[in-house]
Amino acid sequence: MKPAYYVTTPIYYVNGAPHIGHAYTSIAADVMARFKRLDGFDVFFLTGTDEHGQKVEKAASEAGLDPQTFTDKVSADFRDMTERMGVSNDDFIRTTEPRHMAGCAALWRRLEAAGDIYLGHYEGWYAVRDEAFYDESELFTRDGVKLAPTGAPVEWVREPSYFFRLSAWQDRLLQFYADHPDFIAPGSRRNEVLSFVRGGLNDLSISRTTFAWGIPVPDAPGHVMYVWLDALINYITALGFPDENADRWRFWPADAHVVGKDIIRFHAVYWPAFLMSAGIAPPRKITSNGWWVVEGEKMSKSLGNVVEPRKLTTTYGLDQIRYFLLREKPFGSDGSMSHAAIVSRINVELANDLGNLAQRSLSLIAKNCDGVLPGRGDICEPDAVLLAAAAALPAALRERIDRQVFHEALEEVWKVIRAANAYIDHQAPWALRRTDPARMADVLRVLVDVQRVIATVLQPFMPGSMARMLDQLGVPPDHRNFSDLDTDLPAGITLPQPVGVFPRYIEEAA
Ligand code: MSP
Repeated sequence: MKPAYYVTTPIYYVNGAPHIGHAYTSIAADVMARFKRLDGFDVFFLTGTDEHGQKVEKAASEAGLDPQTFTDKVSADFRDMTERMGVSNDDFIRTTEPRHMAGCAALWRRLEAAGDIYLGHYEGWYAVRDEAFYDESELFTRDGVKLAPTGAPVEWVREPSYFFRLSAWQDRLLQFYADHPDFIAPGSRRNEVLSFVRGGLNDLSISRTTFAWGIPVPDAPGHVMYVWLDALINYITALGFPDENADRWRFWPADAHVVGKDIIRFHAVYWPAFLMSAGIAPPRKITSNGWWVVEGEKMSKSLGNVVEPRKLTTTYGLDQIRYFLLREKPFGSDGSMSHAAIVSRINVELANDLGNLAQRSLSLIAKNCDGVLPGRGDICEPDAVLLAAAAALPAALRERIDRQVFHEALEEVWKVIRAANAYIDHQAPWALRRTDPARMADVLRVLVDVQRVIATVLQPFMPGSMARMLDQLGVPPDHRNFSDLDTDLPAGITLPQPVGVFPRYIEEAA
């Protein structure tokens, strides 16, 4: 039986159109899911939309639509973005679906049965944009307006509310973090969470009464669930919760929740507390990504610089953008995207380094070997060195993908690509054609074998282009898992006519 692996994206608020920040989190999770599938795991990969709460209700009313019609429309945009980004999710959950709403009610009852819910009165600050409660001490004032640390405006709310006894969970959470040192990644975020929890936890308001767009609290007319409680539960309702005999329940606990750094507190503090209270194991890891800014500026509707994923992929190509997003900055850090940076990655690393390597070696096979793949010949020292570097890639990437250092994973592959380019320059197979055709064939075979490993391990990052590259290398579609690398390609197969995989990006004349 294959081991189970469960990875999730955050579920996206449907208050506005998808932007590149959403696409980024989804693509990173997709790389993890695809990598694990190729590495022999039974993967479940979930994404979806977060459709309740005041923020979405407000956006619907501004659009002049009832919330359900509005969320149907925006959720469909997110589904479309997911497909266009080549995201290989196994399910797409919407929090307005009956399966989710029923699961939320069941979880509420568990928290209640555990004695962790009580009725009270909330009075304090709330930021609709963040859908978050803030303590007075966290706020700052700009131009006479009180703002949350995120810059979101806050309003004073006063309403009857159910509370979750979060204060009682401080010690158990600290114990949990101590027992699971890898629970929060990267490490800097872990320290942030630890100091927040060590500072003491207030009970958390988990129902709202001043609006209606939410999941009704069982047997409590007028109360809807706090949207973050509703949202977090998606990770288990998608697996069939409360039916713990459901086929998908085998995927729990999740191996990784991929989340932005802005929502780590909800995932690393509230979520494990809710789950432990309900008698359910917490997830294994919360891994958080940094933010993209554009040409040095924060993306915002008012600045008009919000990057639409669709526009990027039509301008530069899907795999090019997937590659750029994971190569350009460390996953946990912030980074800036710019036209110049994208073009440089495409032209230098994809078109030149990888594209030319493939083109040069495959066109020599087409020309000098009638397109027939040579057999493995005698192995000389430089061949052995290069082959060994390639053979080490799956393990090197496995370790790095498990730490979500995608840029380092790609750098490992590029070291081998650069070594392969140096090898081809040195061996000069084009010159060997006259002097030593047998050696030429051996060199070309080494190059095919090395590129086969490269293309196999790069599939999670650039699935479409690497499928085309593997086609050209004569690797059958059902032999592209990491374990297939243990079996040599048969000699004598005819390779298809080579075609460039990565065109250079050429600036349009002004
Ligand atoms: N609905 C909540 C998540 C609930 S999960 C149970 C939410 N949604 S969101 O649509 O506002 O944001 C989703 C994700 O997109 C977050 O992880 C956030 O960090 C990420 N990003 C939003 N803008 C971003 C950038 N500019 N750059 C990178 N990621 C950013 O929060």
